[in-house]
Amino acid sequence: MTVLITGSSGGIGRSLARSLPALGWQLRGFDREPAGGDLETICGDITDPDALDAAMAGVRAVVHLAGQATEAPWPVIREANLEGCYQVFEAARRAGVRRVVYASSNHAVGFTPRPPGDCAQLPADTPPRPDTLYGVSKAFGEALARYYVDRYDMQVACLRIGTFAETPPDARSMATWLSPADCAQLVDTCLRTDRLGFALVWGVSANRGRWWSLDAGQALGYHPLDDASQHRPESPGAVYQAADLPVGGAFTEPSFGIDEVAGRWDDAPAARSESRSG
Ligand SMILES: NC(=O)c1ccc[n+]([C@@H]2O[C@H](COP(=O)([O-])OP(=O)(O)OC[C@H]3O[C@@H](n4cnc5c(N)ncnc54)[C@H](O)[C@@H]3O)[C@@H](O)[C@H]2O)c1
Repeated sequence: MTVLITGSSGGIGRSLARSLPALGWQLRGFDREPAGGDLETICGDITDPDALDAAMAGVRAVVHLAGQATEAPWPVIREANLEGCYQVFEAARRAGVRRVVYASSNHAVGFTPRPPGDCAQLPADTPPRPDTLYGVSKAFGEALARYYVDRYDMQVACLRIGTFAETPPDARSMATWLSPADCAQLVDTCLRTDRLGFALVWGVSANRGRWWSLDAGQALGYHPLDDASQHRPESPGAVYQAADLPVGGAFTEPSFGIDEVAGRWDDAPAARSESRSG
């Protein structure tokens, strides 16, 4: 029952490290940063095949979260999210680990317009339409996942995560929020289901104002319980006003262009964490 979590020292990783053991999973962490807490963690980089081989020993499944979690200059994205992602899939294949839960992102399809009408929802297999190099890297990860399923008979769920947070942080997240409890349920479902081949699934809670369909997740057994509108009730008008953008929200704005991001990156370390994980 051992599950390897890459990126175990990050926000989602730490949350899963708290919740998944109670659901019966034995965890091993892998991160370049020390974890703290009780989780057995191997310190290493996902671009290092030897470190990954050591981490994969005796593992039944991988939850791959590690990487650059927001927009960054190309060399950063390329190293962590392309090379690193490839090395994780390769290490899983070498070790005979057949199941991977991969943290993709809504930004793989960020330039997709919001569906018209208050109740319309985009399907989970909406074609890639990335809003950033980060989004491009997530679409790459999804393509890589598809390849390992078709060629090596692996089972992979790609979670197009919206906004993971304890509570919805802003107006957009009234539609895009993924609560920690629902995130744990979603990952647990993807680890457990016997219906998994290749799946694209929205990582979103049962938010009343969501733009994304739960159908693909429900087909695997994911039934989210949280709803952003219960945490911070806002008028539907405020939600839709703020969401008057493609689904990627702020990442679609000119300030997330390649030169703009590179300029901010050079300026100050603070700028590197200017935007939330996405
Ligand atoms: N948080 C969200 O709302 C959200 C939304 C969509 C997608 N995601 C995706 O989910 C995953 C986890 O997100 P998060 O919010 O926990 O991010 P995070 O930045 O908090 O955590 C990422 C972790 O990965 C580790 N890491 C980065 N590069 C690494 C490398 N080369 N080798 C080893 N470890 C490395 C970091 O040390 C960090 O602990 C990411 O892949 C992110 O793109 C998150």
